[in-house]
Amino acid sequence: PPLSTLINLHDFEEAFGRFGSQKAWAYTWAASNDLISLNLNKSWWSKILFRPRIMRDVSAINTKATMLGAEVSMPVFICPMGIAKTAGPEGEMALGSGAANAGIVHCMSTTASFSAEEILTSVPPTYPYFFQLYVDRTRSKTEALLSRLEAFANIKAIFVTVDLAVVSKREADERLVVSEQVYTSSDGQVSGADKKGAGLARTTGNFIDWKLSWSDIPWLRRHTTKPLVIKGVQSAVDAKLALELGCAGIVVSNHGGRALDGAPGTVGILLELRRDCPEVFDRMEVFVDGGVRRGSDILQAVCLGARGVGVGRPFQCSVMYGKEGVEHAALLLQDELETAMRLCGVTDLGKVRGDLSYLNTVELE
Ligand code: FNR
Repeated sequence: PPLSTLINLHDFEEAFGRFGSQKAWAYTWAASNDLISLNLNKSWWSKILFRPRIMRDVSAINTKATMLGAEVSMPVFICPMGIAKTAGPEGEMALGSGAANAGIVHCMSTTASFSAEEILTSVPPTYPYFFQLYVDRTRSKTEALLSRLEAFANIKAIFVTVDLAVVSKREADERLVVSEQVYTSSDGQVSGADKKGAGLARTTGNFIDWKLSWSDIPWLRRHTTKPLVIKGVQSAVDAKLALELGCAGIVVSNHGGRALDGAPGTVGILLELRRDCPEVFDRMEVFVDGGVRRGSDILQAVCLGARGVGVGRPFQCSVMYGKEGVEHAALLLQDELETAMRLCGVTDLGKVRGDLSYLNTVELE
């Protein structure tokens, strides 16, 4: 369908599901096992309700924000997602330039389909970028990668993903590979890896070091001068550890339901942090991702204390339309955010961070 007919982020996922390749859709859409955490991410956003204020002159509003030193038109980053070329030939190049045109930041993945140097050419040289790191079992490879990134001052932070010590079982992805083998294998042999039903995710993610631990933070510190953000925090106790170890921020995330199935929805985790370690919101930048699909979700996340939100799958799907698709998706979110703010009586997004008075949490109690 023409881009102009896509009017919300769900439309991007639906269009990609219908017109993208079956394999790319399975990889993108897939989540772990019974999709419990995937569904919890989405349902939590609809459990949080607003407490709108009225009659406040909402003619002029401000959605601008700063995330890890990056100045953005709204507090949104495009989540790191592997092999974006599966969704369209421009892959991460579209994500970078679409993000820059809309004034938000793209976080590139370690498992991107282009090199970091190539992806950075998609934005002006000073435009902010984030980099997502999977630590390699061969630590020298990670050290070399971090040292290459030092050359780029516009990479504002390294997001170290820690919630995927092993790649989980994504059945939508795996079934497709298994069925392809059944129908296309010429010699009738199924290899050892294939017996596990290795989908695209498992085959690209098997380099990740499962020995990674908190005691490796000083090692990472020695190999990069950039702020470290721990992506995949799912409890107050780990949020506190990240703070104690001097991290600049955390992303409250369950990997979009693609890691441990049965992990809580990320809004629930944010509420645990508010209750058990409220100090983290003041002393580092707390981000959240998972199921964010509407501008109103962004406003709710900010009121809950988040510095910003990450949006994943809809952007990967938007790559089907190239950079215009990515920009269009971002502008839809921007428009929804502005509408939600006006209807809620919020004129300056920066002033309502952590302000629960705009939320009606009765449903949660
Ligand atoms: C991911 N995610 C991810 N995370 C990461 O740290 N490194 C990666 O390479 C990837 N790859 C990846 C690929 C695809 C296709 C998806 C959908 C997700 C997780 C991602 O960064 C983020 O945490 C979730 O996608 C957020 O949830 P939503 O917005 O997709 O619901």
